[in-house]
Amino acid sequence: MNKIKVEQLNFYYGSKPALQDISLEIADRQITALIGPSGCGKSTFLRCLNRMNDTIPNTRVDGRIWLDRRDIYAPGTDVTNLRVRVGMVFQRPNPFPQSVFDNVVFGRRVLGWGKNRSDLLATVEACLRRVALWDEVKDNLYQDALRLSLGQQQRLCIARTIAVQPEVILMDEPCSALDPIATLEIEDLMRVLKESYCIVIVTHNMQQAARVSQRTGFFWLGRLVEFDHTEAIFTHPHEKLTEDYITGRAG
Ligand SMILES: Nc1ncnc2c1ncn2[C@@H]1O[C@H](COP(=O)(O)OP(=O)(O)OP(=O)(O)O)[C@@H](O)[C@H]1O
Ligand SMILES: [Mg+2]
Repeated sequence: MNKIKVEQLNFYYGSKPALQDISLEIADRQITALIGPSGCGKSTFLRCLNRMNDTIPNTRVDGRIWLDRRDIYAPGTDVTNLRVRVGMVFQRPNPFPQSVFDNVVFGRRVLGWGKNRSDLLATVEACLRRVALWDEVKDNLYQDALRLSLGQQQRLCIARTIAVQPEVILMDEPCSALDPIATLEIEDLMRVLKESYCIVIVTHNMQQAARVSQRTGFFWLGRLVEFDHTEAIFTHPHEKLTEDYITGRAG
């Protein structure tokens, strides 16, 4: 089943087109990977999916993005609610300079959910268990999150994202600041999370795209050159440009 449908999406920074005529459908409970060289529009595309680009002045978007058959750019859309439903995890782990506990429940507090401490604690435990961090931090929930390792910080950021019960999780190069072991831990986590969420990940690591995703899209100069089952993209791509990129001859 598809969670998101993108139709003829164009995006401009000023007069400069960054995305041109992008159409694709993103499946629920799968991982969709977006690959392509630097500057080809992957992050811009990801930010269109929860309207994070709205915060950048002098930009323009046209086309349609449907989330469960509702156009997210329709007038009257509640953008805060959209960003709860479509959460985002960034390249550099960005925990707030607060305790582990406060980080996990940050979004819930902003939204005014669960003011009661025992409810919040239950949420913290559930979310930290979900990201396989609970055993490592359960005795230090009130320590500064910035004292965790980078891999732990990234798992904490994922816990903070899922604490507001999103439906879609966008991840923009979530492992690029991590060592190989922490990277594999995040990949394991993604495999678990995909059972419950629609996940879209941008990665420069083609082995990672091949390992974790079910669909892959290849972007080039603001266009979606090819979108297919991951295995097809990596074993018999239709487009010469895709083949050149994945074999390291272009990009
Ligand atoms: N805030 C901005 N203002 C103006 N131009 C921007 C802005 N952000 C990105 N761009 C431009 O839009 C194009 C696409 O950038 P984007 O960051 O989406 O690429 P990317 O594929 O994510 O690259 P990378 O792999 O390096 O992260 C680039 O030409 C970039 O310079
Ligand atoms: Mg990017």
